[in-house]
Amino acid sequence: MLPVVSPVVFAERVTKWYGPRRAVADVSFAIAPGEIVGLLGPNGSGKSTIFRMLTGYLVPTSGRIEVAGHDVVEDSLGVRRAISYVPEDAPLYDHMRVGEFLNFMAGIKGLHGPKTRAAVEEVAERLDLARVMKLTTGKLSRGFRQRVSIAQALLGDPKVLVLDEPTSGLDPHQVIAVRDLIQSLAGRHTVLLASHILPEIEKIASRVMILLDGVLLTSDALKDAAQDLTLRLSAEATEDAVRGATKAVAGVREVTADPDNAGRFLVKAERRPPLAADLVSALVAAQIPVRELTELRPDLERVFLDLTRQPKAAA
Ligand SMILES: Nc1ncnc2c1ncn2[C@@H]1O[C@H](COP(=O)(O)OP(=O)(O)OP(=O)(O)O)[C@@H](O)[C@H]1O
Ligand SMILES: [Mg+2]
Repeated sequence: MLPVVSPVVFAERVTKWYGPRRAVADVSFAIAPGEIVGLLGPNGSGKSTIFRMLTGYLVPTSGRIEVAGHDVVEDSLGVRRAISYVPEDAPLYDHMRVGEFLNFMAGIKGLHGPKTRAAVEEVAERLDLARVMKLTTGKLSRGFRQRVSIAQALLGDPKVLVLDEPTSGLDPHQVIAVRDLIQSLAGRHTVLLASHILPEIEKIASRVMILLDGVLLTSDALKDAAQDLTLRLSAEATEDAVRGATKAVAGVREVTADPDNAGRFLVKAERRPPLAADLVSALVAAQIPVRELTELRPDLERVFLDLTRQPKAAA
């Protein structure tokens, strides 16, 4: 659904070719101020390419992108003032000390004088950088490099933050800390983050877009998940018998047998209140005893697997 307020990021029919290879295909989306949007997709699906176009580092082959009302091609300076970017490999100037680097980046973002010091202190505190401020960035561990990269992105209070795989290389404590940090940015900043790690996106984002082979499969996967109902049915009958008994129940879309568990079935259906009761009545009428019927929590993993049709182990 398009947001009612005017979007802060707007992409219309964006396509990117790298020579003969199409990395992004006809992608359109809109992001409202204050949203935390996750871009989820397997390796090579085009997430970083989209982010590089949003931040003005790459020019779309066709289509249009606006950030905070600025066109990324015609007004790339305007875009860069409104957006901050943490690229996936977090490049830093390796010879600079962390404190120097943050001061330098503050200058680039137009902060001067006493404002610089206050801003650097604030981001250093938010990312817990006190003990590394005097180290050169080249000597930092991967996790600290990532934190310094996020800290520089927060300088100057950007409207939009674009984070490419922000927790990659972090230890579990740092993952939680960065996740909390990103969630604390909601409202004040608009955040777009890319990841191929599904549980991570599910925990952080308020909306999830799914990308596969450069194609945007959905711009609100959690909403899609909430519309569908999946029930796990345990009954003593063959797959054909269960399918036959339930096919006339209004709302049932698909019945599949669980290949690993005899007598277990998955029923996909429209979400409507009497569905479980109708299913049980239909099965009982067909003399199929029902041992168990439980609703599976709608989750992103199922939507993702359905949309991308990948084996579970590969997700
Ligand atoms: N500079 C480039 N030149 C040519 N092809 C590229 C270039 N950058 C990316 N690609 C190709 O474009 C496609 C999308 O790559 P991209 O880096 O955007 O994917 P991604 O979703 O960010 O992947 P990952 O999860 O591995 O970071 C891939 O097939 C990749 O090989
Ligand atoms: Mg990438």
